[in-house]
Amino acid sequence: MASEQSTVDCAEAADMTSFEDLEWDEPVQSVQELAENDGVRIVPPMYIRPLPDRPQLERREEAIAMKQKIPVIDFSGLQDERRKGFVMREIAMACEDWGFFQLTNHSIAPALLERVKRVAAQFFELPLEEKQVYANTPGSLTGYGSRMGIAKNSVLDWGDYFLHYVWPPEDRDVDEVWPDNPPAYRDTIDEYSREIHNLYRNLMAVLSINLGLKSAYLERAFGKGASHVLRINYYPPCPQPHLTLGLGSHSDAGGMTFLLQDEVLGLQVKKNDKWTLVKPISNAILVNIADQLQIISNGKYKSVEHRAIVNKKKARMTVAVFCNPADDTIISPAPALLDARHPPLYRPMTFGEFLASFFKKGLDGKGYVESFKTRNHHF
Ligand code: OGA
Ligand code: NI
Repeated sequence: MASEQSTVDCAEAADMTSFEDLEWDEPVQSVQELAENDGVRIVPPMYIRPLPDRPQLERREEAIAMKQKIPVIDFSGLQDERRKGFVMREIAMACEDWGFFQLTNHSIAPALLERVKRVAAQFFELPLEEKQVYANTPGSLTGYGSRMGIAKNSVLDWGDYFLHYVWPPEDRDVDEVWPDNPPAYRDTIDEYSREIHNLYRNLMAVLSINLGLKSAYLERAFGKGASHVLRINYYPPCPQPHLTLGLGSHSDAGGMTFLLQDEVLGLQVKKNDKWTLVKPISNAILVNIADQLQIISNGKYKSVEHRAIVNKKKARMTVAVFCNPADDTIISPAPALLDARHPPLYRPMTFGEFLASFFKKGLDGKGYVESFKTRNHHF
């Protein structure tokens, strides 16, 4: 169970945030505090996954990781007329086959990536009390947190996170959530989100063309209020990594995700029903297709299940940027991709409606996007 000092009880949490009526039914425990300061030697019961969900950390999986490598794509090839067609096809195949690829030479300076990782790490190095100034609330995902949603008795992830909006710039929750410590945080994340936004626009155009749509199609389909959310994941070392997960299996609900990783292994992607460990490439950015692009592409592009495992020795940190459609925009398969032989697989739905059911259900594999298939939806 949570120790006395590091437990935020409901009264304290309400006091700190004071604008929320909802309360946590169970205390929220910082996993970093539990692992690094309390130094627990065994994983407390609420972090223990049921047997089928536990990672198999033996060597066999490493071998699979070697054989099945997620595609690595040199983005600078798009600037070269001779290589452009080849790179476009590589991207199309990665979206259809893996739903994941690592992008190198993406034009975001390695020095900026280092600065992003540094401010993210510095935030997590702050004392617990300082981080808790930004504590999330049961009704809001933004801020510093260790659990999502108020569902009781759910298995918890072996990790903490920090989440806030980054795009569009005028809708950022800077005053409420962006920390002023470390001092370089705001400028660095501002710069990074602008770069990611450019990359996002370029990739959305590439994917549109690859799907046979107008180059602006996908970006327009996401609507005027499309936003990007940044989430720093911090996975402390774990005394019994075979019992738990840093982040349970899920597919991302939004459109497209950009993940910056440190050098510690941990991300696993499901491929041919096997968990494949991703080897981070330094200075590369990992891109994955999320649920809304699967829907718009009518299933051609795959939003693939993934999860994070933890290890005994090293903390791991990742910085994700989720690029989402506007809440009130109706997302449906692109009409140009439909004909008698290709009926729509998903019913039209606003992203807001999709998210509402996503969070009700909690992170749990790929249930949502599949349950919205027109053939078997339950409405
Ligand atoms: C996520 C995610 C994986 C990782 O934040 O949605 O899948 O390795 N993260 O941190
Ligand atoms: Ni994810």
